[in-house]
Amino acid sequence: MEDLHALEERMLAQIADAGDLPALEQARVAALGKRSPLTQAMKGLGGLDVDARKEAGVRLNRIKRRLGDAVEARRGALERAALDERLATERVDVTLPPRPEGEGAVHPVGQVLDELIAILADMGFRVADGPDIEDDFHNFTALNIPPEHPARQMHDTFYFRADEAGERMLLRTHTSPVQIRHMQAEPPPHRIIAPGRTYRCDYDMTHTPMFHQIEGLVIDESTHMGHLKGCLIDLARAFFEVDDLPVRFRPSYFPFTEPSAEMDIGCSREGGGLRIGHGADWMEILGCGMVHPKVLEIVGLDPARYQGFAFGIGVERPAMLKYGIPDLRSFFDADLRWLRHYGFAPFDVPSLAAGLSA
Ligand code: PHE
Repeated sequence: MEDLHALEERMLAQIADAGDLPALEQARVAALGKRSPLTQAMKGLGGLDVDARKEAGVRLNRIKRRLGDAVEARRGALERAALDERLATERVDVTLPPRPEGEGAVHPVGQVLDELIAILADMGFRVADGPDIEDDFHNFTALNIPPEHPARQMHDTFYFRADEAGERMLLRTHTSPVQIRHMQAEPPPHRIIAPGRTYRCDYDMTHTPMFHQIEGLVIDESTHMGHLKGCLIDLARAFFEVDDLPVRFRPSYFPFTEPSAEMDIGCSREGGGLRIGHGADWMEILGCGMVHPKVLEIVGLDPARYQGFAFGIGVERPAMLKYGIPDLRSFFDADLRWLRHYGFAPFDVPSLAAGLSA
């Protein structure tokens, strides 16, 4: 029993000498681990007779508790010392200004989409949605663009590989297929806008393979060209924030509208810069027209009873005009410096809430 006392003293000394936490862990394993003399002695208790077992058991347990307490005490002391050392060497200068937090910005496309949607929602339009990956029927055929129609070439379509039946899905070349989907899904009257991404195989100063449009569709029993003009003139003036913005409608051609037009806004290019408003020049901003009777027939509406107008406005071009962004391609370069320069503070879309709750 005397060597047990010596063992305890040796272990206590080792624990007290441990200079850091790894050394303390070593001392703990040596004192209390599975292979330690103490644990081995406890295992041997079974071989003793009852009285001797009781006495030795009490003693061993007492040693075990003392060693355990010593380890914990030493651990506490080491941790305190480490903290004291850190407190002595590290300093917090509470007078330093806070580090600036990375703050996000709203991309001009998102901003202009919100602005246009807010204006149109104020007019009573509701937002509708459709898939980016379309079938030929909704993107072309139902819009009165049959398979051999030259307009198909004009659209520079991205096609997917054909399935067994020879059907090719495609990336929608405009938001007009949402008109079809909406008229198929719900009965008239219709008054919807469909903002979203569109895709064409084209890339230069004024074209990117992905861009955004907002489609508009109004169908009712007495809608006429005057409604189209009033709606789009108000839209352009509200968006560019120029009350007497000159606009003109130029006859044009789309297979899914008749008559068709393109709307230009007045601008001036004097002195190299571009200015919206009065001037000698015109700038095209959207395509529009009265929905073609064939399109109405395809979705099961009687053209003798229902009529209406549609328009498709690009998002990037008005964004470039309103906010003075010179190169379309820069929109999608994901350059943070560009975004910091042209981006908008979040929560700064004043009329959106009013528009959507109207
Ligand atoms: N979908 C046409 C385009 O992308 C625009 C348009 C929409 C024209 C609706 C008329 C009516 O060019």
